[in-house]
Amino acid sequence: MHARVAAATTVALLGGTVLILPGPHARAGAVRSTDPVIVSHRGASAYAPENTLAAIDKAAAMGFLWVENDVQRTKDGELVVLHDASLARTTDVEQLYPQRAPWKVKDFTAAEIARLDAGSWFGPRYAGARVPTLKQYMSRVSHNHQKLVLEIKNPQLYPGIEQQTLKLLSNEGWLDPAHLKSRLIVQSFSADSVRAVHDLRPGITTAFLGTPPIAQLPQYARFADQINSDHTSLSSDYVSAVHVLHGPHGRPMEVFAWTVNDATTARRVAGLGVAGIITNVPDVVQGALR
Ligand code: G3P
Ligand code: CA
Repeated sequence: MHARVAAATTVALLGGTVLILPGPHARAGAVRSTDPVIVSHRGASAYAPENTLAAIDKAAAMGFLWVENDVQRTKDGELVVLHDASLARTTDVEQLYPQRAPWKVKDFTAAEIARLDAGSWFGPRYAGARVPTLKQYMSRVSHNHQKLVLEIKNPQLYPGIEQQTLKLLSNEGWLDPAHLKSRLIVQSFSADSVRAVHDLRPGITTAFLGTPPIAQLPQYARFADQINSDHTSLSSDYVSAVHVLHGPHGRPMEVFAWTVNDATTARRVAGLGVAGIITNVPDVVQGALR
């Protein structure tokens, strides 16, 4: 049996009946039997500007349900979707606000950020793309019938961002049982942030971003369903060490690997038994797995 499938299977004996319970990813409605789920990183970010609505539309047009994003907060408290702490790399902020270096997200209001062009840096056809608010983003993910790996980015800069994010997700209808079961994972590089999300809403599937030492994995299993690791840090032994643990929902823990952008690496991590592959080129990964 495929290693991941074996590890993601819980066997319970009920009066002599063997009950097979799939892991959280399968529970979340993964479109696969043994292949890892494919997650479009910052949207289909090799083909459209990262973390824009165009990037998730592109993923949807290519047939990919799962997208990943990065959530931060503006000076006046609006949640927005952007990867870097600074707006400089992916917008024209330096031209519009030349005196405001280093152009941190947290130093700009939502209205100021709404003026920025977040598409031209990627290519002229995306000129005018905007930095989406999380509310706008969730509306589009819902419209596209997609699923989301939401990353709380740089939470140390934004006290209370976990509670605020969950409130917005609730308002947008993303914390109902159907979404929790099949459409949402919340992750962060901050263990404190992942723990806070779990404590606030224990029903959410959570992931820690990183590769903690194997000896420390049981501590993470208290609040994280997944360990989502840089693919270069993964080995067969490490993935197996994650799989033998059970997360906060009593299911075997899983691994998503990032950021996998070539066929050889996709096949390698699939062979390790990861449950998910996060990629800028979902079509390349899909082709490799076929
Ligand atoms: O989802 C994993 C990946 O997004 C983590 O790295 O820097 O791209 O947010 P980063
Ligand atoms: Ca991310």
